[in-house]
Amino acid sequence: MHQKNDYICNMKQINITAQIRVCDYTELSSQDKILVDTAKEATQAAYAPYSHFQVGAAVQLTDGIVVTGNNQENVAYPSGLCAERTALFYANAHYPDRAVDTIAIAAYAHGDYVDAPITPCGGCRQVILEAQNRYQHPVRLILYGKKEVYIIPKITDLLPLSFSEFG
Ligand code: THU
Repeated sequence: MHQKNDYICNMKQINITAQIRVCDYTELSSQDKILVDTAKEATQAAYAPYSHFQVGAAVQLTDGIVVTGNNQENVAYPSGLCAERTALFYANAHYPDRAVDTIAIAAYAHGDYVDAPITPCGGCRQVILEAQNRYQHPVRLILYGKKEVYIIPKITDLLPLSFSEFG
């Protein structure tokens, strides 16, 4: 008897791939190192009294301007906001005519930066995708961990099959 998951559909199969380059911090370009350092620094001003997990984001616009953000928590938990969205909404508010080029993300917990990179939550991926679509410019991500750093060329690598009104 066929189980629910045993269907064999012959029309086609969609395979999803993502390009993630794993590097050591020392291998980054000097500009990327500065952006990562800025994201690390931003973790220190996070307001995270509930999770004690401090996230920093540094957003580089195409003309080189860098804006930062960090997670802002609230006693009414859902009212808080992630670092990535804090930074991106600031960028949108102040530089609405500049495309987003790169976002660096770092996290600090238990008195140190995390060993392995954290990846943005689903809600933040959606917001980063909006920036990519809005300016028709790929948003590159640099996810910092002490032991390894992920470089992801565009947000669509992290959000395949994203919603579009046009199918
Ligand atoms: N957080 C971020 O700021 N960015 C992420 O990509 C994941 C999670 C925050 C939300 C919350 O304040 C804390 O980290 C713990 O989840």
